[in-house]
Amino acid sequence: MESSDLKKIIQGIPKAELHLHIEGSFEPELMFEIAKRNKITLDFDSIESLKKGYMFNNLQEFLDIYYIAAKVLIHEQDFFDLTWAYLCKVYSQNVLHVEVFFDPQTHTDRGVEFAVVINGIYKALEKAKQELNISYKLIMSYLRHLSEEEAFKTLESSLPFKHWIDGVGLDSSEIGNPPSKFVNVFKASANHGYKLVAHAGEEGPVAYIWEALDLLNVVRIDHGNRCLDDGVLLQRLRDEQMPLTLCPLSNVALKVILNMKDHPIEKMLDEGILATIHSDDPAYFGGYMNENYYEIAKALNLNIDQLMLLAINAFEASWLSSEAKAKHISQVKTYFKSLNS
Ligand code: HPA
Ligand code: ZN
Repeated sequence: MESSDLKKIIQGIPKAELHLHIEGSFEPELMFEIAKRNKITLDFDSIESLKKGYMFNNLQEFLDIYYIAAKVLIHEQDFFDLTWAYLCKVYSQNVLHVEVFFDPQTHTDRGVEFAVVINGIYKALEKAKQELNISYKLIMSYLRHLSEEEAFKTLESSLPFKHWIDGVGLDSSEIGNPPSKFVNVFKASANHGYKLVAHAGEEGPVAYIWEALDLLNVVRIDHGNRCLDDGVLLQRLRDEQMPLTLCPLSNVALKVILNMKDHPIEKMLDEGILATIHSDDPAYFGGYMNENYYEIAKALNLNIDQLMLLAINAFEASWLSSEAKAKHISQVKTYFKSLNS
């Protein structure tokens, strides 16, 4: 298929984004604009020199820059602008539903109040719901390089805003910070009504995926690339139709895989795993939803049926009501049928 035809098909697919760190959608142009108005000097003297630093050998090298960049976010307006810019971008890519992570500790540890962070993000999400017809869920992520006690403090801070938050996640430096470190805070989060997800098996071993399932009781695994190492786990993921939110451009950028052609998603689909495609930190990894679909489709030579399955899986794996899921899945099917006529 011609590249332009593939891009056109991907553009038209009704899409759901389920693995997106809002701080990872911080484009350099907006970063410099907000730094300027907050009178903060970035360590980089231009957008070009900042972008030159976007060459990572692993997750930690990326996180080091990601946390530095987040330091320019101070006021509610900054969090609003960040979120609104992301939503406008994905609106242009026919994304109809988003489930967005935010990292409160990245901000509260610098003295920015939880309320400032969530008010900005929430107002942008609500505006997108009203004006762009994008539905959303919001997921608060605990930073796994910090202690469980600190995660408990974050849980406590979130409670006045509980009605805006749908779930909790676990992100940041994976190796050496297993899911087992957060068993108690995940249990407490569930008792407050939050749904549970966790990053596992991105860089970390397959044992972390088992822990996320058995000790944290998550309803979705973020990444989970390493599951193909373990046949028993594969069987479990298939039987439970446990969603895995894969992020192809992220995997290449962070050297989780060396080449897009090595990406495990096709094998996962063949194995009957509920695998889905998302963008993780699009401002850092070279693209949003369309670009992730395009690069993976091109590298693995995915066919139309596989693209349709990926689009359906994302709605299936979402936290939308069963009615909304059915509506969007039927939209996806109608779209793909229209391509044949
Ligand atoms: N992995 C883990 N933590 C993260 C990521 C990621 O890709 N992005 C932002 N926090
Ligand atoms: Zn992630």
